[in-house]
Amino acid sequence: METQANSETDGPWHTHAGGLGADLHLDLADGFDTGPARGRGAQQRRRLVDALRAAIEDGRLGAGAPLPPYRSLAADLNLARGTVAAAYEELIAQGWLVARRGAGTRVADSVAASAPPSGTVPAPLLPPRHNFLTGQANAGLFPRADWIAATRRALSTAPDSAFDPTAPHGSRVLREALAGYLARARGVRADPNQIVLTTGVMYSLRLLTPTVLGTTVAVESHGLPFHRLAIEESGAVTLPVPLDDDGAVVDAIGDGVSSLVLTPSHQSPTGVSLSPPRRAAVIDWARRTGGLIVEDDYDGEYRYDREPIGALQALGPDVVVYAGSVSKTLSPSVRIGWLVLPGHLAEQVAWSKGVREPDASIVDQLVLAEMIASGAYDRHIRRSRQFYRRRRDQLLARLTAIGAQVTGVAGGLHLLIPTTAQREGALMAEAVNRGIGISPLSFFAHPAATDTARHGLIVGFGTPSASSYSADLDALVGLLVDVA
Ligand SMILES: Cc1ncc(COP(=O)(O)O)c(C=O)c1O
Repeated sequence: METQANSETDGPWHTHAGGLGADLHLDLADGFDTGPARGRGAQQRRRLVDALRAAIEDGRLGAGAPLPPYRSLAADLNLARGTVAAAYEELIAQGWLVARRGAGTRVADSVAASAPPSGTVPAPLLPPRHNFLTGQANAGLFPRADWIAATRRALSTAPDSAFDPTAPHGSRVLREALAGYLARARGVRADPNQIVLTTGVMYSLRLLTPTVLGTTVAVESHGLPFHRLAIEESGAVTLPVPLDDDGAVVDAIGDGVSSLVLTPSHQSPTGVSLSPPRRAAVIDWARRTGGLIVEDDYDGEYRYDREPIGALQALGPDVVVYAGSVSKTLSPSVRIGWLVLPGHLAEQVAWSKGVREPDASIVDQLVLAEMIASGAYDRHIRRSRQFYRRRRDQLLARLTAIGAQVTGVAGGLHLLIPTTAQREGALMAEAVNRGIGISPLSFFAHPAATDTARHGLIVGFGTPSASSYSADLDALVGLLVDVA
């Protein structure tokens, strides 16, 4: 990509690259080549993330300090480029680093304020002043009163056996509630015996990859870097499928692909939905080739101009694994997710999880089941949908007033403002100066994507608090007007 190519040769890093490379090498060398080959990439990324964060925390890497281009650091440390790129991406998402087109990656300015004196517990990083980073559920909407009431009911009525160790499928009570909810709200053909509970989509991908996805996994050319990484961690290769206005270009899926991960209802992040002919084509692809499709239905409940489009899974329950979570409806910190699997895969996936593997607390599982059974979860989603619709309308009104275009369907918690490549870079640079957290489309591009001509800003409108949203919109509009 253009940014990386430039920063590779002429970034300010080259003035002190050797020093940092040597420091990091000392921190990282021990134990890097040990352990089983499977999972080694993840272990190396973890150590690199920890080492970089430690260097930032103890001041060796100060606010604004440039980092080496990932290719150079990979060469210095004898690591795979993907491992270093993934470590940078993780630290960017956590707010420790920022990436600027043409200027490479550097330590975030906000780090200066929060970096503790060496030896003390690090203070949490402050979120950007105006937070339009990819849409999260609005924290102020969490249904506290309903959750409290559901907790009381769930714990009063659960038999003692509910607190015995569970099978890896997760709570039967929640699987039954979810089967009903997903059928009703998303048209999913779900049987409780085919549901495996997880902590979220991220972990679901980790679980599925070595078990059933095979070694060559096609992904949308633009998508969450962490999700690609979750797939690659167990040694699978990801191949990008280009996107157009109808979603993933199914005809472009390469030969030898064993499975395909899609966000059909609302492509993340471009916001288009997979057109009906493409839906049929992708099911046909799976049946013809023996491939498996993973449908990440991360924000399928939120559609503002019509009834939500039903899940792709209903068209091919034999070839589609449906993945979802409460991250967009309740909170990404609750960590409850689910898989609805083709019948022949359910037991295999459940038992590959292991009996004490990541799961939400049984208490939270029972409470969510109670929320669904009592109708409180549906009511919460209806309220949330209205809230986000109003938010999106406000944002659109402000953008329309200054002649800015948006693309994608009226749904979800983010939208895309297309720009030229040059303007995307200029907007990002100025956004950092103004304390505006926003993501460039290029951040989501697969390293081997061929459809990288499109650029723009991904604006998440879910996160800002009710009290700041109007000022946040002023800041965003000011940015778009000033950086023409
Ligand atoms: C594309 C996409 N898929 C899935 C999720 C949910 O991930 P998780 O369930 O791991 O929190 C998100 C973010 O919330 C997302 O943006």
